[in-house]
Formats: sequence, C-alpha cells, structure tokens
Amino acid sequence: MQNPGRRIDLDTAVILLREGKVVALPTETVYGLGCRASDPAAIAEVYRIKQRPVDNPLICHVSSPQMMFRYVTAPAPWLIHLLGAFAPGPISFLLPLNAGAGQSLRAATGGRPGVVMRLPAHPLTQKIIRELDAPIAAPSANTSGKVSPTTAQMVIDDLGEKIAGVLDGGDCRVGIESTILDVREAHRVRILRPGTIGEADLRMVLAHRFPGIEVAAEASAGEVVPGSKYTHYAPETPVYWIEKAEVDRYAHRTDGVLVGLSEDLPAEGRAIRVDLGSLRTSPERVAYALYRNIKSLDTLPVERAWLIRFDPGKESIARAVMNRLEKVARTSSPS
Ligand code: TXA
Ligand code: MG
Repeated sequence: MQNPGRRIDLDTAVILLREGKVVALPTETVYGLGCRASDPAAIAEVYRIKQRPVDNPLICHVSSPQMMFRYVTAPAPWLIHLLGAFAPGPISFLLPLNAGAGQSLRAATGGRPGVVMRLPAHPLTQKIIRELDAPIAAPSANTSGKVSPTTAQMVIDDLGEKIAGVLDGGDCRVGIESTILDVREAHRVRILRPGTIGEADLRMVLAHRFPGIEVAAEASAGEVVPGSKYTHYAPETPVYWIEKAEVDRYAHRTDGVLVGLSEDLPAEGRAIRVDLGSLRTSPERVAYALYRNIKSLDTLPVERAWLIRFDPGKESIARAVMNRLEKVARTSSPS
C-alpha cells in the first residue's frame, strides 16, 4: 500500500470512503475503523484488518436522528427524549432494522435483525457522515484483543500499514467506548455495555416525563453484547490484579510496575508507578487517560504489571472503568 499509515484530511477521507476504502476516524470516545455501512465488501475488509471474529457486529454511526430513523423502526417517544438529552454523544442504541432501507445495513449487523446506532459528537466525523449522507460502520480502530486507540498515533502504531489513512482529530475527549443501550422494548431500557453515561443519568432524564420506563443495569459479563465474550484491551505486558491490602509487598519490587488509582498507590517505594488518576476527584480524567495509561505499560522496562483492585461502587464512570480493567487484567497474580 502506498504511503502507509498516512494522516489524511477530511476531503480525502470522504473520497476514500466513497470508493469503499477503510479509514480511521476520530470520535469523542475512541477512534473508529470506518467504512460505508451498506458496503459488504468494505465491511469484510474491516473484519480482516481488525482480525475481528465475524460473529461480532459493528456499530453504525449517523449524523442525525433523521438519518437514524431511515433505517430503524418507529422509535418510542421516550427514545426521542433520550436522543434529545444525550445525542450526539457517547451513547449507542440497539434497535430493530426496518423492512426498507434498514436491510442495507445487514452486513454491518452480521445478519442480525437489530442494529446498534450512534451519533458521534466529533465534528469532523459528523461532517464526513453528512457529506456521505449515509451511515458509517466503525468498530474501535484496534486489532481485536488490543487496547482501543484514543489518539491518531495509537491507530498508526497498531494498524497504520493496513489502512487507507487516519483522520487525526486529536485526543478523544471521553476516552472509553460508548454506553450501549438496548431500546427495543416498549417500557424498558437495558444497559448492554457500561460507559460514561450511566443508570443514574438515564433515570434522571426519563423520570419526569416517562416515569414508567424501567432502566435495567448491565447484565453479567458475556451475556448480552456479542463482543463481551471476547477478551479486549489487553496490552502486551501481562497485568495481574492485586488487593489493596497487598500493596506494601509490591511497593519495593523492581521487576514490575504498580498500576492504580491515585488514592490507592503507595506514597513510597522503589516500584515504578502508573497513576490512573482519581475516581474520587475526577472520574472523567480517569476514563480519558485510561487506554493511554494501559498502553504505556508496554513502553516500560518491566515484565509485568500489578493492578490494585478497587470497589467501583455505583458511580457510572467508575463502573465503566472497572468493566474495561476487568478485561485488561488476569485474575491471579504471580507472587
Ligand atoms: O464508542 C464506541 O462505541 C466506539 C466508537 C468507534 O464509536 N465503537 C466501539 O465499537 O466500541 P466496537 O465494535 O469496539 O464495540 C461495539 C460493541 C461490540 O461489543 C458489539 O458486539 C456490539 O457493540 N454490537 C454492535 N452491533 C450490534 C448488534 N447489531 N447487536 C448486538 N450488539 C452489537
Ligand atoms: Mg472494540
């Protein structure tokens, strides 16, 4: 491929997408590996580039609720209300495809009757979708099993040789993937994947005008979202959970790195420390920097990392961060 890993501008991205090529695009959550959602050959190329299991469908990104409603069945009034409150933003909706235009998205859904739709907030990607006037299918722009990229450089390091280009839109503002909601039932919203928008936010927005709509927390791991059965986000460096009570035993070791929240890292010791930030004072910062922090482990001269376990409690960002870390770390630690 000529000029591998090149950064491209918006107009080039539109041209390449029209030609059926695969390009990496910025969103406010993580970078996406995008192609025209109605193009089965381009979708097949996305799976090939990512080495993604073919039973794991792709999110379709649209630029407006109007574009979304071209493809899905008539939404409930409370869904319009949720869209008004949270979209564009880090939230995705699982909906039934309609019998018309919806069928053109079957390649993206792996033949499923439901599609996950999202209105990304990044202005560059919104503009691209508006110019194409068609949805873009985009999983996170990482090789399957690796950390999701939150900068253009992370995409280039992982996939630069394999893709037609990367549109650099800066650091992703949110830093972890969107909340995914199942909104196919008339009176219930189910959280399929936790994200920065959580149960409490949904309840608050629905409570006043739609008090009858139930908000159900995410199901146990591996159950609902097809992708959740795969291990995601693993860096090359093996990461092991350790308990807070054990931290002192690791604080002086030099054969590994201690990773933890600011509030949990020991103040002293010879071990290298990677500070994930504070969930107490700024959970948004923890999410924002999470994947870069995880990726940084591979640049350190260590064989392993010890991740200090914490109780995420009920706060949505803390829960979403823990959900990702559960996929980063192995359960038992070598002594
Ligand atoms: O923030 C995000 O959502 C990012 C950006 C790029 O938009 N995208 C993202 O895509 O995280 P991906 O492919 O890494 O994760 C999408 C998840 C997968 O677990 C997949 O199984 C699920 O959404 N999913 C996609 N389409 C689905 C469908 N039709 N039915 C059920 N689950 C679906
Ligand atoms: Mg992903």
